[in-house]
Amino acid sequence: MKSIRKAVFPVAGMGTRFLPATKANPKEMLPIVDKPLIQYAAEEAVAAGIDTLIFINGRNKRSIEDHFDKAYELEAELEARNKDKLLKLAQEVLPPHVNCIYIRQAEALGLGHAVLCAEPAVGDEPFAVILADDLIINGGRNCMEQMAEVYNEYHGSVIGTQTIPREESDKYGMIAGSEVTSSITQVAQMVEKPAPADAPSDQAVVGRYILTPRIFDKLKTTGRGAGGEIQLTDAIAALCNEEKVYAYSFDGKRYDCGSKLGYLQANVELGLVHPELKDEFSDYLKNLKI
Ligand code: G1P
Repeated sequence: MKSIRKAVFPVAGMGTRFLPATKANPKEMLPIVDKPLIQYAAEEAVAAGIDTLIFINGRNKRSIEDHFDKAYELEAELEARNKDKLLKLAQEVLPPHVNCIYIRQAEALGLGHAVLCAEPAVGDEPFAVILADDLIINGGRNCMEQMAEVYNEYHGSVIGTQTIPREESDKYGMIAGSEVTSSITQVAQMVEKPAPADAPSDQAVVGRYILTPRIFDKLKTTGRGAGGEIQLTDAIAALCNEEKVYAYSFDGKRYDCGSKLGYLQANVELGLVHPELKDEFSDYLKNLKI
């Protein structure tokens, strides 16, 4: 069985919910305290043993390439000023053994289409997909590490899920199936953004997937679905008919950083545990009067 070495990061979305901040910058570059969302996602993948990061980008995505590239001028400047700690932060965005590949998604045809664009770089092996605006924090093994363990044990695609209030089902891919363990379900049904009355359960897909390469065949024949887009959910639903697909209810806290409220919550909560900030920030919040 092949291990998971590659992760796909779809980053071509328009980020309209964060305009004007995302007019010239991708939403994945928005920082949570001092680190952009995409770096949290990349670090999660690398901690899970992944060494090839494949970014599917669109317009305005140059800053992601620059972020993971060497910044010669900045480094020279920091070196000249003996700012060793800052130099280290700039240099150690990724460990040296990790490779980045950038693929352009010319048309914004949806998440499923973005993943299909990764096929030439992924090839015939299982791979991860991480949506960086779903920030998942866990003090122990991170979400992708947990999912890689499930994949290694069950040898099938694994979808990260979470229980949500049913009335929010129209924001998510929703799954249903048969229970394997208290945290693992074998998926029988998967629907993209159903109305609450049509949702098959209260289990929502959040932005973490491990997929077998057969998903590419499914994506090639998946027509436009919810919102007129080629949906990854629909392709996974088709995959369920041929292979076992598991939903895994991960251990960890997820922040929906695609929404302004979730983004602010992540900043506040990560600010409260940030080594340099936590004391002052916590005092500030305690004394805040508005
Ligand atoms: C995407 C997926 C959806 C999933 C969600 C998680 O939707 O299509 O199935 O539940 O991410 O964040 P988006 O939020 O991009 O509309």
